[in-house]
Amino acid sequence: METLLGDGKRLFLKRDDLCGIGFGGNKIRKLEYILGDALQQGCDAIVTCGGSQSNQPLAVAACANKAGLAAYLVLPQSTNPLIQSFLSLLGASVYLTESGDTGELGRTMRRVQDALRQKGHAPYLISQGAVSLGGTLGYVAAMKELFEQARAARFPIQHVLVCGASGNTYAGVALGTKMFSPSTRATVISIAGRFTHKTTLCRMANEAAEKLDTDVRLTEDDLSVHFSCGRGAGAETLKGREAVQLMAQKEGIFLDPLFTGKAFAGLLDLNQQGYFQPGDGIVFIHTGGMGTLISKL
Ligand SMILES: Cc1ncc(COP(=O)(O)O)c(C=O)c1O
Repeated sequence: METLLGDGKRLFLKRDDLCGIGFGGNKIRKLEYILGDALQQGCDAIVTCGGSQSNQPLAVAACANKAGLAAYLVLPQSTNPLIQSFLSLLGASVYLTESGDTGELGRTMRRVQDALRQKGHAPYLISQGAVSLGGTLGYVAAMKELFEQARAARFPIQHVLVCGASGNTYAGVALGTKMFSPSTRATVISIAGRFTHKTTLCRMANEAAEKLDTDVRLTEDDLSVHFSCGRGAGAETLKGREAVQLMAQKEGIFLDPLFTGKAFAGLLDLNQQGYFQPGDGIVFIHTGGMGTLISKL
């Protein structure tokens, strides 16, 4: 996308929405490591939950099938019927809660987990948002791939931007960027009013760095946190909707109105504010969100 940002800036998308299973998205990279851990621990079932517009249940159901694990999903009953149909197609067992309250979702997950144990199964629990060491490692690996691709194509990248909610993806992106392209700036655009503190982001990233046996450590100076949140995580914004339409109508690419659409609107705002230099190479990581798009159409 050569002309969208002006001043010769070149915008590339890292298409993690197309990363090969289910509806794609950032959860696939996280689950590669998380399900690997489940298999290593000898588990035979995955239990997880999600809000009504969450992308995690679809990703878990698809990836669990591929890994030969059974998926048990706890969702609010307000979850869009189309999403429930996709989950049924994937063969997942779904438990509906009355509300989307985090406490109720958590309690129901633990009840499902206990029931499975009583039947002799070995369930593995994935928290909402799949925040984990595996999640960070998944995005360090993604950055290795991205910078190898950029080098092979001979295009320099000055900026990588990603959508943030829990910050787990960004922790991996920021560490991976420092490891594989230290002159590149990694920026997160939070779609929630509050974002994970920089100290926590560094802790998450540096736990992954230790695991990877690298000397690179993330510090707060490596982090750039910006917001495109409107009234909060579950709220759409006009600019986010416009970004979804822009990408669909100019490029034939689907963003979603709560995560990638709002984040992309944040990127366009940063461009207006002069955040990028003329001629910069800029990568937006497309973290998916197709479950949210379907829910909100
Ligand atoms: C489509 C999409 N993009 C980005 C994110 C943010 O990921 P993280 O929670 O790791 O910050 C999410 C999280 O739910 C998501 O669904």
